[in-house]
Amino acid sequence: MSAPNKSYDPVEVSALQPAELDKARDAAIAAIAAAADLDGLKAVRLAHAGDRSPLALANREIGALPPQAKAEAGKRVGAARGAVAQALKKRQAELEEERDQRVLVEETVDVTLPWDRAPRGARHPLTTLQERMADVFVAMGFEVAEGPEVEAGWFNFDALNFKPDHPARSMQDTFFVESEESDVVLRTHTSPVQIRSLLSRELPVYVVAPGRTFRTDELDATHAPVFHQLEGLAVDEGLTMADLRGAIDAFVTGMFGGGLKTRFRPSYFPFTEPSAEVDMQCFVCHGASAEPGGEPCRTCSSEGWIELGGCGMVNPRVLVACGIDTGRYSGWAFGLGVERTLMFRHGVEDMHDMVEGDVRFTLPFGMEI
Ligand code: DAH
Repeated sequence: MSAPNKSYDPVEVSALQPAELDKARDAAIAAIAAAADLDGLKAVRLAHAGDRSPLALANREIGALPPQAKAEAGKRVGAARGAVAQALKKRQAELEEERDQRVLVEETVDVTLPWDRAPRGARHPLTTLQERMADVFVAMGFEVAEGPEVEAGWFNFDALNFKPDHPARSMQDTFFVESEESDVVLRTHTSPVQIRSLLSRELPVYVVAPGRTFRTDELDATHAPVFHQLEGLAVDEGLTMADLRGAIDAFVTGMFGGGLKTRFRPSYFPFTEPSAEVDMQCFVCHGASAEPGGEPCRTCSSEGWIELGGCGMVNPRVLVACGIDTGRYSGWAFGLGVERTLMFRHGVEDMHDMVEGDVRFTLPFGMEI
């Protein structure tokens, strides 16, 4: 507050001069009109009607005026402040109305929308196919076995008779979880479940192990770094390759219908001896496309045969690693690719479709949960 005014003239106090008061009032009214929302108006209220606003400060100057000047100055300041207060009130009401309208629109609920048609998730075709493949063996008396996806090198390689310098053990094919020396890997196949099953179960063992496997492949039309296999293992007294062939034949019949031949081609895997690649006759052309003059077949690329996977008699070294008496027991094993099966069984041409999670791909396979 200023010291008592010497001349007793209110006009000498600059803040109380009519032109100053008009200026402050007009500035306030312009700012009020320009406030775009309630928060903006709050700031304007503070600046133009708050304790430190020009008009409030002018009001305080009145106290220092001589009594005869107070009334007139008070009237002038009061009129200006009243105009500002009114403008604030009006704008406040306008902005509240605007906000209410906006909230009504934004929060509108369309009660006519269907409430019972939220899309439900379903399992991926790879998952359902994998289970269906395993089920064919479950029907033959096999149990489903599991193992970890992060696996010790011993289970993934050593116990399966991979020599320390086997190329599959290198960084080029295998994801190492830590360093290469740590020997902890993402399993490169489901075969380590063979070892885990033999170490944890009583003989005889008849298991299938569906699951995810990992290799350092780039994703392209026919490869994926994460893929699925179905492992099978039977260890019992007196098992022969004929039993293996019979189980594979039963699988082909269960998955693709009867009347399809299978064939074994000699191959090599460290954990089976002898080893074979197993093929089934094409379930679309039944081999006719490979005959002279046969119609071309997309499913088997006119080969007449479709490759299913690898198999063989369990290498006695594997049985020994699991403490099994090889004089008494023998076994056979197989590994089938689930992606491959989905591709040829359902005409899927590109691996990308299986990993992209697009419902336009998965929906036609059904909504099995
Ligand atoms: N583990 C092999 C692979 O990933 C597949 C395989 C071949 C599994 C022969 C077997 C087998 O059980 O007997 O390529």
